[in-house]
Amino acid sequence: MSIPSLEALRADFEEAGQGHVFRHWAELEPSQQRTLERQLRAVDLALVARHGALLQSSDAAAASNLAPPDFFPLNRSAEQEAQARQAAALGANLLAAGKIGFVLVAGGQGSRLGFDGPKGAFEIGPVTNKSLFAWHAARIQAASYRYGFDPLWFVMTSEANDDETRAFFEAQDYFGLSKQNLFFFTQDMLPALDANGRILLASKHELFLAPDGHGGTLAALSASGALEVMAEEGIEQLSYFQVDSPLTRPADPLFIGLHAEAGAQMSSKVVPKRDAHEKVGVLGLVDGKLGCIEYSDLTDDLRHARNEATGELLFNAGNIAAHMIRRDFIESLASGGALDLPWHIARKSIPSIDAAGAPTQVDGVKFETFVFDALARTRSSVVLEVERAQEFSPVKNAEGSDSPETARADLTRIGAELMAGHPDWNAADFTAIEIDPRVAETPEEFRTTAAHGRKVNGGIVFEPDQEGPVAG
Ligand code: UD1
Repeated sequence: MSIPSLEALRADFEEAGQGHVFRHWAELEPSQQRTLERQLRAVDLALVARHGALLQSSDAAAASNLAPPDFFPLNRSAEQEAQARQAAALGANLLAAGKIGFVLVAGGQGSRLGFDGPKGAFEIGPVTNKSLFAWHAARIQAASYRYGFDPLWFVMTSEANDDETRAFFEAQDYFGLSKQNLFFFTQDMLPALDANGRILLASKHELFLAPDGHGGTLAALSASGALEVMAEEGIEQLSYFQVDSPLTRPADPLFIGLHAEAGAQMSSKVVPKRDAHEKVGVLGLVDGKLGCIEYSDLTDDLRHARNEATGELLFNAGNIAAHMIRRDFIESLASGGALDLPWHIARKSIPSIDAAGAPTQVDGVKFETFVFDALARTRSSVVLEVERAQEFSPVKNAEGSDSPETARADLTRIGAELMAGHPDWNAADFTAIEIDPRVAETPEEFRTTAAHGRKVNGGIVFEPDQEGPVAG
């Protein structure tokens, strides 16, 4: 297929009612023209038209029939306990056999945090300032030592942070992982529109582009060739996780095992909500299909509704965005065109330019898909309840709840829990505690491996020593 000429490109945009993107063409430097042309060639005008039509249709979501999901609970019966033991053994075997690949989604912008850089570069270690990326790397590597496998890690970035993310990993020597086991892939960027469906310009020669949401992971895994690499390497299941919680456990044998045993296509971890107002999505059945109901989509009544028998919130299954996904499930979605996940609209004030080219703010719209909408396409899915205190402490806000301060406090608390009962260490002696996951993730491991601690400014840190980390 030959590349259409600039005239043809222009005609296509004119015809689509988007000719204004060429308004300043004659004023642009050649290099700016090239930038704009490159961006315009990447625009899917049919998709833009669909997005425009969405804006014209009513925003009010159709009333749905919502119900809480079944889940594998933290408070287990003896039978469930036995099932959990069996599943964890299966999960450990799958890890050891190299069947699990790790997928981190880190394409979003850390704007709420007020941090100018890839969110994963944010420093969160309570003693060493170890970054979020470094925590994730340490957990993956700890699992690779424990179960004995060579971990493959797929990191999704977006055009906005790809260069910086790669440079950060390189500068940190890939956190001790081998470079050839790391795969970076980028998600798509889409033009934001104004309220009338017109493409917004960020400047005379640039569109205002935004990442297409974490639902874009599935298409990007396919388009980047990552799924093929996984197939070649024998990876059958993906452990999907978000960048923002340093407590996340991407290599959890119980979760992997329950998901595999059920033959599930995609499974999810949840935590009980902190309270009715916690701004997490909840897993639930929407008209009988599993999905995630965002905080803003749950009416006040439903947010507060309680289960009569237990007194717990009825919609209590807080989504921590940790999923197990079968590789062939993504392949089948990608090949059948079913990757067409529903579009979610985010209305934002967007920095743009007016007709004269002067900077202005516009009430605009960004379009995203969400990975959890693929849950509706599963035939079988496991929902596993896990302990918030051990697995979920996201860094979302600059201060207050879910902030760097709360995440650091949680890492110190977990460090103190790991130290408890050790004859040589007393957590109360330190203002901050940081235990690298490669040293220990359980008190037993800490007792057998943590000989040396390094004291830093009233805090203490335990890091893997030269002799190597946790024994298998
Ligand atoms: C998300 C979930 C919410 C869940 C909460 C748990 C959505 C819409 N909601 O909320 O149900 O309870 O996490 O922490 O996701 N990302 C990309 N590309 C994008 C957009 C996001 O890679 O285009 C990544 C981010 O880097 C981040 C993750 O997805 O790792 C979550 O994105 P974010 O926008 O922070 O979601 P939340 O609103 O916190």
